[in-house]
Amino acid sequence: MTGYEYHRYTAYSRWRLGGRGGIRGGRPELFKKYRGSEIKKFPESLLKPDKKLMEVVLWRLPGSSSALFDENLLGLLFFLSYGIRPDSGLRGYPFRTVPSAGALYPCELYFCPDGIGPWEGGFYHYRADLHGAERIAKGGGSGSGLDVKVSVLPYRSAFKYGERALRYVLLDAGHLIEQIRMAGRIVGLEGLAYSGCEEPSVWEKAAGLSADHEVFIGGVRFGEPDCANLMPVMPIPEMQRCGELASGGDCGPVIREVLDAIRHGCFVFDEEPEIAGYEDESLPDISAFNAIIGRRSHRNYTGKTISYGVFDLFVRALGSLSDYSGFVVYFALAAVEGFTPGVYLLKADEAVKKGCEALGRIRSASVMTELAHACLGQGWMANGSFAVIIALSFEDAERAYGDRGYMHLMINAGRVGQRIYLLSEGFGLGCCGVGAFYDGDVSDVVPMDDDTYPVYVIPVGSRSR
Ligand SMILES: Cc1cc2nc3c(=O)[nH]c(=O)nc-3n(C[C@H](O)[C@H](O)[C@H](O)COP(=O)(O)O)c2cc1C
Repeated sequence: MTGYEYHRYTAYSRWRLGGRGGIRGGRPELFKKYRGSEIKKFPESLLKPDKKLMEVVLWRLPGSSSALFDENLLGLLFFLSYGIRPDSGLRGYPFRTVPSAGALYPCELYFCPDGIGPWEGGFYHYRADLHGAERIAKGGGSGSGLDVKVSVLPYRSAFKYGERALRYVLLDAGHLIEQIRMAGRIVGLEGLAYSGCEEPSVWEKAAGLSADHEVFIGGVRFGEPDCANLMPVMPIPEMQRCGELASGGDCGPVIREVLDAIRHGCFVFDEEPEIAGYEDESLPDISAFNAIIGRRSHRNYTGKTISYGVFDLFVRALGSLSDYSGFVVYFALAAVEGFTPGVYLLKADEAVKKGCEALGRIRSASVMTELAHACLGQGWMANGSFAVIIALSFEDAERAYGDRGYMHLMINAGRVGQRIYLLSEGFGLGCCGVGAFYDGDVSDVVPMDDDTYPVYVIPVGSRSR
């Protein structure tokens, strides 16, 4: 089954809410542990670099130097990327810095540091629960940089969401990949995001992954690390057993087959074009650190109108990540200054330069209530000021990227989602990713072309205090 077929197969309708064929097992572990490995802790006290959220989200770093990288910054990079948020203690659950469908966190982080401070070369697994890393392979080369790899354990999500879970897993991975890139900028590194994995069997061996439970799905490369000749420090069957325990069960034949078909090979995402015309002083000056640790999904919107200027920045900043063949972005506008309520299609290739002028209206009606109904009746969405609806044209995606286009663009949808979360935080707004919807109903609300399928909906609004 290709990714495109999988997406159609897992569509929800009012009569069918997806299958669970062959998915079985117990409760997954929230944190993967390589039992018996040596753990290196990051320094407890976190540096708080003086970076503003908006400069991090909107602008690439002029240059980056991995030579400046020390272990304080490495610890901060991982904490900001996928650490446990400080408010988690109060809430009694280890919420992370990134959102995740159902807070199930199906991703794990690995990294290969090369010439980074006191870190010996090799391959490491990030332990969010201990704020440290375990060295799982020795080796590495003579380059300079850091390769951060994201793996997914689909059962962690499938035990709750059934076969539809792989959609959420890919979106979650995209959120995380974008967050790693942003965390990189905070610590002074500009990275390149990628989906998939070059030579998956080499990396799976280095981490002792069993592809039935966990596969590498993408990552971010900083500098030019040389991650050659990695030798696992534990017997591979022991490492695989750790992956099995972390997964907790069998994600079923459908998800396994689709992942197996799309995980080979690697696509690097384009460097985004610069967003010009915004002065630092005109932007909110919330610190990047505070925004990331304060981020949450918000569902309490007031319906207040969002100013043209703020919305224009959303359009440019989303457009800069959206210019991919087959990647389609719609905006459902309810309360945005200067716009008649309606559904608008984004011309992604013009968005960075033209902002709001790159939107063309395709439907005149305020559709937030309809959209909320289409999203399994999640009524809280109806008060949003606008919603972003991301869809894929399967024909265009397949023509441009082949079978793997599905994974590439789903991960990109997650990246765009993360950007919406960060921008919302920056402007004091709220947003929440929505992956649960009746697919055909969302297509009708928008309305979409026959070959275009919704993949992600993100309402945004001013939030009540
Ligand atoms: C891909 C994805 C899909 C999601 N779908 C929904 C949804 O349909 N409804 C909802 O209320 N929240 C949804 N969420 C939000 C998660 O429930 C939320 O991220 C999680 O509970 C963690 O909370 P936090 O974001 O406040 O850290 C989704 C999040 C992601 C990343």
